[in-house]
Order: sequence, then structure tokens, then C-alpha cells
Amino acid sequence: MKRIVLSFFILMVAMGSAIADEGMWLPVLISQRIADMQAKGFRLSAEDVYSVNQASLKDAVVLFGGGCTGEVVSDQGLLLTNHHCGYSFIQRHSSVEHDYLKDGFWAMDRSQELPNRGLSVSFLQRMEDVTDEVLKGYDPSMTEAQRDSVVRTNSAPIIRAAMGEGKGLRATVEALYYGNQYFLFVYKIYRDVRLVGAPPSSIGKFGGDTDNWMWPRHTGDFSIFRIYADKDNEPADYSEDNVPYRPKRSFKISRAGVKPGDFTFVYGCPGSTKEYVMSEEVRYVAEVSDPQKIDLRTKRLDIQRKHMSESQAVRIQYSSKNAGISNAWKKWQGEVKGLKKMKTVAAKREFESRFNKWAEGTKYEGLVDKIGEYYAERNPYYHAYEYYTETIRGVELLQFASNVVNTLRTGRSAAGAAESFFKDYYQPIDEEIFVAMLDAFDKNMDDSFKPEYFKEKLSAYGSVEAWKDDLFKNSVFTSAAKVSALTKDDVDALMSDPAYELQDAFNVWYAETLAPVITDANAKIRLANRDYMKAQMEFEPDKAFYPDANLTLRVAYGHVEGYSPADGMTYAPVSTLKGIIEKDNPEIFDYNIPQALRDIYAEGGHEDQPVCFIATNHTSGGNSGSPVINADGNLIGINFDRVWEGTMSDIVFDPEVCRNISIDIRYLLFVVDKIGGASYLFDEMDFAD
Ligand code: ARG
Ligand code: GLU
Repeated sequence: MKRIVLSFFILMVAMGSAIADEGMWLPVLISQRIADMQAKGFRLSAEDVYSVNQASLKDAVVLFGGGCTGEVVSDQGLLLTNHHCGYSFIQRHSSVEHDYLKDGFWAMDRSQELPNRGLSVSFLQRMEDVTDEVLKGYDPSMTEAQRDSVVRTNSAPIIRAAMGEGKGLRATVEALYYGNQYFLFVYKIYRDVRLVGAPPSSIGKFGGDTDNWMWPRHTGDFSIFRIYADKDNEPADYSEDNVPYRPKRSFKISRAGVKPGDFTFVYGCPGSTKEYVMSEEVRYVAEVSDPQKIDLRTKRLDIQRKHMSESQAVRIQYSSKNAGISNAWKKWQGEVKGLKKMKTVAAKREFESRFNKWAEGTKYEGLVDKIGEYYAERNPYYHAYEYYTETIRGVELLQFASNVVNTLRTGRSAAGAAESFFKDYYQPIDEEIFVAMLDAFDKNMDDSFKPEYFKEKLSAYGSVEAWKDDLFKNSVFTSAAKVSALTKDDVDALMSDPAYELQDAFNVWYAETLAPVITDANAKIRLANRDYMKAQMEFEPDKAFYPDANLTLRVAYGHVEGYSPADGMTYAPVSTLKGIIEKDNPEIFDYNIPQALRDIYAEGGHEDQPVCFIATNHTSGGNSGSPVINADGNLIGINFDRVWEGTMSDIVFDPEVCRNISIDIRYLLFVVDKIGGASYLFDEMDFAD
């Protein structure tokens, strides 16, 4: 009987936890999760995931550039990430004669691999709790500014000592749980990283912004690089003498495929989440911030798209800009929908009222109300700041004016900046955006939140339209020739250029009226959130907490599973080549696949070729390019997105609909072989089967 009861209990625990795959766990503390992971199918140990004494999976994962993840898949430094993570590097190697974005790029041997200035990858050497050292000398009566200075002073020697341990090291001390904990992260940075292969954008960006953040998905979102090192395997600047990096560990590739229920594990660097904030912050995001930004970006996107649809040249000029604006725009819409559906504001309020009861008579009494007051103090100013960012700063000419003046001040010529700006500039778009953005600012901001300059000019001109005519006619910044001829001596005169003057007036207004209030309130919010975080942990002692994402390495685990996006609909968790052919449309840019792919499909036998799959791993921006690993620690996919219905997972995770989207590694192999003709790369890969 006892045994039956016990196993029933275990079953209940397993079932309970099988539902929720929320969490982005610190690798160094993975021993606290490993039992749960193993119960869900993982067959490796905590030491296999993270170890400083022996090679572990962490040694095959990198922070790629400034905001993506990548993974090493051969003992010769071969590296996989997303196409959208490699995009700007692929673009920089492209020209009219060889357009690698359009046609793809495949090095046929090492000598053809292309170096990338400014690209580096960071391997985590170790992470370590340094809270006690970092907070030495801190006492709770200090202001937030004094505390910051204690943290900075104490961190400096820790960082210096860690960096002295070897070549090419970077060390940072990062706050976790709003500064309740501090961790030292030591990275080794390799800065000779070469492009090895990229599919044509019609595969790597298949579906474009239409399919972005959506399932079912058919994007071959990968690119391939190689890390180089000096002859001692140490980091070095690019040199012909460098040799392929020999990693401590690389991923084996599994071609066994995925099926519903399979254990999955994403190892990567999610950028930013806020899972523990109070209801007022969520209300602000869902009811004020996201909706206003969505509305403003809709206006900009519509203007761009109208002109893009009228001219092929304009489409090329604006496709990257348009995608940049559209990515967050679409995510915010999913986020708002998700927060509403989850009734997160109400749920948090309910939580807060239980919390408040518990907090009565403790040092946490009144804490939540206090945070609410700080938000109330900050948010009108923050709202104005966000509105300013999305309107005035959305006018390209105004940004350009500021950049040019900054360049000239350093004594450099603005010719280079002018060349790259005008290559992708279409003034009619910018003029329309100017009118739409300034109009929106005028109509939707309270008069007390408008710069005097803005009010005076607008009343002098009588309309934004008239202001626009005058500004674009008289600003020197609309002329490539004139800007290229400018020198440092012209800076004084440029101060009264109408474009420069306008953006500068807003800048000064921001710095003088908004920034001080926002900075002050943010410091108070940070301090109070630190207490609130700690209090939540005391309030719910049995709950497993994970720190909000901050671009440090994390482990998320879950399983392959479809979902229901709406009543009466269910999604299967895998997509296939058949679906690509169904979406194929030569008339629509985003769905116009390479002829080669059509031909291969026509041969037959490839209908079931897997393309993408979804799973329940908790991921965020920054997890792009992350390895997706099976129960044996072998690579089965590359993470690149989340489903639209689940994008609120940065604030609240809904196990019913939150899914990460990955490219199936077998599709990568298929494209490398059949489209790239680069199957020679398989020789250096290690296949698990
Ligand atoms: N949504 C993905 C991410 O947040 C992919 C973005 C790139 N793709 C695009 N169509 N804009 O990074
Ligand atoms: N595409 C995102 C990135 O660049 C990942 C998607 C997400 O936010 O989960 O990191």
C-alpha cells in the first residue's frame, strides 16, 4: 500500500511538472533541475550540461555577436546559427555581381570562407556566485546610487582578476533577481569568425514578415560559420595564419527526428524577460505601451509598404528597415493578445492581494502599493519618452542629421555616412512618415508633454504639412553631395539647419524634462523590485524561481508538442517540404522559392522532408540560433522564433500555447546538400546515428 501511495505521489508530481515547462535556468545550478529533467526523459547528468572541470555541453554553445546564440558542430570550429543572425554579415559580403543574400553563399573549401570584421563569438568559461563580495560594505540605509557605486567598486577587482586568467577573456558581473544575487561570468572571445554557408533568402527568410512569429512555419533560418584561432588555439585577430578552432566540446548531430512528446532542451542566451513585475507594469505594457507603439509602427509600415509595392528599387532599399520595424510590431500584437487572454493584470492583482495579506506586519507591508506609486510617478514621463522614440526618432532624416554632426565633430568626413544613408533612402517615404509622426505626436501628447520648440514651430507653420515642406526644402541633409562636402568647420552653421534643430530640441527636452524623472523613478522601482522579488520567494517558498533573462546562458527544457491557437483548431508540431510547395508563389516575394527546390521536389520522394518543429521550451529574443538538443544531448534543431499566441511569455508563460520554433536539423542538412552542394561539410560533422 505504501508503495502504491508513493508511486501515485511520484506520478502526480511528474504530471504536474510535465504540464509546465516554464523557466530559463542557470546552467551552474542545473543540479537543482536535473531530477525533473531526467523524469521528463533527459538521459544525461548535470555535469554533462555544465562543468568547469571537464568538457560539457556548455563548451559547444556561444553568444554569437551581440545578441544571438550559436553552437559548435565539429572539432574544427564549425558553427551554426540563424540566417537572421548572420544576415548583416552576409549582406556586407554581397554586391550586385554576387548577391549572397539573394543567391546564397557556399564556401567550397576553407580558402573560400569569408572573414567578418566586427563579428566575435563568446564561450562561457565559468559562472560564479559573487554576491557576498559584490555587496561588501553595502548597508540598507544607502540610496540606490550609493549602492550602485558599492557594486561597481567591488566588482572591478573581481573582473580584473578574472580577465587576468588567460588570453581573450571578458568578465562581467551581472545582477540576477534585481540585484538580490550577483554572478561573475567569464567569457573567452574568439574574433576571427568566417562565413561558410548561407542559403538564399528565399529559403533562409522564407515566409518573410508574413510568416514571422507564426506557426506553421517553413523557414530555413540557418547560416554556417567557422571559428578560427591562432596556432595555440587561442583567440586572435583575423590572420591568414589562423587555423580552425579546436573546441573542448562539439554537438553530435541526430538525424533520428522528432515526434510529439520527445524531450527537448534549448541551451542559449535569452535577452530580457520580466516575469515577476507587479500588475501595474503589466497593465502599462498591455494597455498603453504596446498599443501606442503598434499604432505608430502600423503608420510607418503602411507608408513604407505602399511605396515598396510601387517600385522594385524601393522594395530593396526598405526591406531590411521594414523587417526591423515589423519584427517587434508583430510581437507586441501577440503579446497584448496573450496578456489579455491570460488576464494577467487581474491575476497579478489577485496575487498581490494575497501577498499583501501575508505581508501585513512584516517589513514588506505596503511594498506593492509603493511600487504602484513609483510607476504612477514615472509612467506619464515614460509614455512621453516612448512616444518621442517611436515618432521623432522614426524620421530617418532627423537621425541622419544627428549622426552627421556627431561624425563631423570628431573631425571625420561625413562622405561615408552619406553614401550608406542615401543608398537606402527614399525621400517621399520619409516625408510622409514625418507628417504622420509629427501629427500623431501633436494629437496624442498632452500639451504639457510637448517641447516649447515643437509648439512654437507648429503654430508658426500652421500645419505639420507646411513644416515638412519647408524643412525638406531647406535642410542640407537631403543632399548627398552637400553632406559629403561638409567639414568640422560647418558644424556651427548646421546648428540652425531645420532638421538638426528639430531633433536637437527634442533631445534637449528629453534630457531636461523627461530623463531626470524617469531615472529617479527607475532607481526607486529597481530598489523596491529587489525587495519584492525577495519577498515573493519568501511568500512562495516551494515555488522554483528562475532569474529573469539578461543575455546570460540559460537552459530551457520541454518537449515537442503542437497546440490549439483558437477554438476548433489544432496545430501539428512539425512542418514539411510539402508545406513549402503549398506556399510557393512566384508572384509573392516572400514565398518565391528557388527553382532548384521546385525541381528537387518534382523528382518526388521529398514530400515528408521535415522542415521545422515546435516545442514547449521557454525562450526569448537572444535564443535565436540556440541549439535544440534531445534526451541524449545531441543536436536536433536550431531555435529561431516563438509562436505568435505565446509571445507574452516574456511576462507570463502559458503552457497551453507557448512554443518555440526550430528548424529541424535534417532540413539544414538537406539544404546544405541539395541546394548548396556543400555536403563535404558533413565529413567533419559527428552524426549520432
Ligand atoms: N521573429 C524572429 C526574431 O525575433 C525572427 C526575426 C527575423 N525575421 C523577420 N522576418 N523579420 O528574431
Ligand atoms: N527571433 C528571436 C531572436 O532573434 C527569437 C524569437 C524569440 O523572441 O523567441 O532571438
